[in-house]
Amino acid sequence: MKNLILFITILALGCTCAAVADEFTKEDLKKWQAEYMAAVKEGEKLFHSSSLGKNKVSCDMCHPNGSNTHPETYPKFQKQIGKVVGLRDMINWCIQNPLEGDILKADDPRMIALEAYITHERRGTPLAPGKH
Ligand code: HEC
Repeated sequence: MKNLILFITILALGCTCAAVADEFTKEDLKKWQAEYMAAVKEGEKLFHSSSLGKNKVSCDMCHPNGSNTHPETYPKFQKQIGKVVGLRDMINWCIQNPLEGDILKADDPRMIALEAYITHERRGTPLAPGKH
């Protein structure tokens, strides 16, 4: 029992310290921004390539420069899917339908990159989930 209390105390202290120690240096910020921008660039490349599908169609043919993707409106009801979905579900809908490709898993780096690019293109736009 004594040990358990000690353990919990150490755990609680550890948590408090971790929360306080959540500081980062300029180098950290630079590195993380560079990693983020690399994902955006990768997404931009994918968006303009036909590698996601099987019929040589690319996203930019219907959404030039990431237009008409409205990431700020997700999650929302999408009539094509018939329920409330996230941005990635619509990305997959377009991969499956216009591009005739295979859907990407949520943690596929290509999905993350597409989400990064599409959302980056609309940065600064107020969030409007559910909006049509
Ligand atoms: C042949 C044309 C076409 C292509 C190519 C296409 N899309 Fe779409 N996309 C559509 C249509 C049509 C819709 C549905 C429009 C709506 O819901 O208002 C849509 C909707 C979307 C939406 C949701 C838009 C919104 O306003 O909610 C996203 C995100 C999206 N597409 C991403 C992509 C991505 C990523 C690709 C490439 C993998 C792609 N699209 C390729 C036609 C296309």
